[in-house]
Amino acid sequence: MSKRILITGAGRRLGKVLAGHYLDQGWQVVAHYNSANELADHPSLTCLQADLANVEALRNLAQQLPGLGQFDAVIHNASCFVPDVAASDLIAHHEMHQRVHVLAPAVITEALSSVWNRAASMVCISDIYADIPNQRFSAYCAAKAGLQNFALSMAQRLAGRVRVNVIQPGPIQFLPEHDEAYRNKVLSQSLIGEELGYGAIIQACDYLLAAEALSGTVMRVDGGRFVANRYDQTFIS
Ligand SMILES: NC(=O)c1ccc[n+]([C@@H]2O[C@H](COP(=O)([O-])OP(=O)(O)OC[C@H]3O[C@@H](n4cnc5c(N)ncnc54)[C@H](OP(=O)(O)O)[C@@H]3O)[C@@H](O)[C@H]2O)c1
Repeated sequence: MSKRILITGAGRRLGKVLAGHYLDQGWQVVAHYNSANELADHPSLTCLQADLANVEALRNLAQQLPGLGQFDAVIHNASCFVPDVAASDLIAHHEMHQRVHVLAPAVITEALSSVWNRAASMVCISDIYADIPNQRFSAYCAAKAGLQNFALSMAQRLAGRVRVNVIQPGPIQFLPEHDEAYRNKVLSQSLIGEELGYGAIIQACDYLLAAEALSGTVMRVDGGRFVANRYDQTFIS
């Protein structure tokens, strides 16, 4: 029987590519999406919409999950990435980041508690900035740090049933609004010096989903950006 995976934020970008990858591998894919769903219909694909910053929508999503069958894997990928300066309401700004990155994975994990298959696996997509301060994106960084710590607590709680690991991406795929100067600056602050592409995260997910010896691991997939000389990064405007 084919395995079943839930991927959040799967309507576009990395989540969409992950969904396509696991469909190609013969998995049953439950793809959560928010506003945009670019996934083509597929007999093994179930799509569920929810704004994870909305508590009622999250509750509704969670209620649907146990009815879909047993799960072998979940990838908590959904993310919002808004600079603090763009926030007109600080409370709403932090609430949105905390709900999407911490509350939603917690509620979804609880909803799946009775439907894990044997040897199941959970991957939380964090960021190298969970461990690096960044005054421009403090709400985002705090929320990714929260997700990471939550994941490690779940590695304890679900031990023996579900292996839980964290991926910290670095510069994987720039956003359309990132101009050339920004891209060059970021890549100059990495050891590999290249935009890594979604394939790097797919490789890491494949490894963590299969690696029976790993739980509670935080894996950087960042082209060495975390250990690059950060003197320049600290003193840029
Ligand atoms: N791209 C990089 O270089 C990079 C670097 C470091 C870490 N990461 C992490 O890697 C993961 C994938 O990166 P990405 O660039 O593909 O992320 P992304 O473009 O920021 O999108 C992630 C997904 O989250 C969904 N999302 C946003 N707000 C949501 C909400 N309120 N409720 C539900 N879903 C919501 C988006 O859907 P909608 O657009 O429909 O809202 C989107 O499908 C993310 O966790 C990101 O933080 C990426």
